[in-house]
Amino acid sequence: MAIVIDGKALAAKVKASVAEEAKSLTRQPGLAVILVGNNPASRTYVTSKEKDCQECGFLSFEHKLPEETREDELLGLIAQLNEDPKVDGILVQMPLPRQLDEQKVIHAIAPEKDVDGFHPVNVGRLVIGEPAFLPCTPAGVMEMFKAYEIPIRGKHCVVLGRSNIVGKPMSSLLLQQDGTVTTCHSKTPNMAEITRQADILVSAVGKRNLVTADMVKEGAVVIDVAMNRNDAGKLCGDVDYPEVAKKASYITPVPGGVGPMTRAILMKNILTAAKMHQGV
Ligand code: GUN
Repeated sequence: MAIVIDGKALAAKVKASVAEEAKSLTRQPGLAVILVGNNPASRTYVTSKEKDCQECGFLSFEHKLPEETREDELLGLIAQLNEDPKVDGILVQMPLPRQLDEQKVIHAIAPEKDVDGFHPVNVGRLVIGEPAFLPCTPAGVMEMFKAYEIPIRGKHCVVLGRSNIVGKPMSSLLLQQDGTVTTCHSKTPNMAEITRQADILVSAVGKRNLVTADMVKEGAVVIDVAMNRNDAGKLCGDVDYPEVAKKASYITPVPGGVGPMTRAILMKNILTAAKMHQGV
């Protein structure tokens, strides 16, 4: 039976240490959150991030914009926040309404305030191994490996999914820690054959029961990044948890696994930004 990686407990620890360190700063760290439109999931995420800021002793500034916001209006607000000394981090909650080009919006955020780690400058720095703001979800997964002393070097790491937010940076971070990395995606014909070779399997697809026990090697580490809903509306991941847990050495639950870590790393990134801006 697998050891269950307790993301909730680990996230609480990370946030407590961030809050402690924030006390020593001369100015409170500040996060500007931009929420465009009425996506209910986005509303929930933004509220959670604001609550985390409060817990860590940070200021949060919410900018709620209507669904029909024009691109120049949003870019204007970002330009203003880029110059605002009270704002250490800028987060534009994704997805954005159709008329707004997400990539263009990400480009507009000053890289030194890009606490999501989505700006091409930070993506590039990550890939070449320079200090960068790391995207919160994959950085949270790496923090789990560290906390549970799960070695990466020389291990076959298989990442399911290649999104800019999770899959691609996850593969980069594992490679940087000397993993042998395979990235699978929707055009991969023989996924199960590859996943069965994984020492570490990270699933970030968003498809319930995608990862079944026959796809997992005995003793593998299984990390479930997805947030799906089952027919009863309950939160679940990509992994058939009860069956896979019997074979894995470590496994993350959904909820209570990667999700809380994502939020904790955001707080860590905001602290890093604030320290940088204060010259600490
Ligand atoms: N939407 C889903 N995940 C994220 C995230 O990590 N950051 C932002 N800004 N939007 C998201």
